[in-house]
Amino acid sequence: MYAIGNDHTGVDLKYIIKKHLEEKGETVKDFGTESTTASNYPDIAESVANAVASGECERAVLICGTGVGMSIAANKVKGVRAVCCSEPFSAKMSKEHNNANVLCFGARVIGNEMAKMIVDSWYEAEFQGGRHQTRVDIISDIEKRQK
Ligand code: RB5
Repeated sequence: MYAIGNDHTGVDLKYIIKKHLEEKGETVKDFGTESTTASNYPDIAESVANAVASGECERAVLICGTGVGMSIAANKVKGVRAVCCSEPFSAKMSKEHNNANVLCFGARVIGNEMAKMIVDSWYEAEFQGGRHQTRVDIISDIEKRQK
């Protein structure tokens, strides 16, 4: 199952991406918001990141104005590797090399079709393991050293 979440800037794009993932056969749990009234992106990011970290959801997509705030907030949750992407190459590499489990982008930065291309690149890519697993393990070690 995928998780999806957004702030007030990403409502329309959220529904487009949710439908796009569902058309791939994925179940998508929507953590909101449905409202275009100003909201605080870290609240949504925390809920979605916890769903991924707990294993309730395998991966997630987060949308705010830039994708930046969502990615910063989601990365505060242990076990989350959130990436902010505005183009497909980074999205692909973020899965292949970094095993990114949360994909973020900005509804004020990219268009709907680019967002779908970014999702496709990330979705279709596979983590390559090997030396990349070693490096992801080092990231986990950093988390373990945090108080
Ligand atoms: C909201 O104005 C905006 O700050 C938010 O959507 C996001 O871009 C933050 O990183």
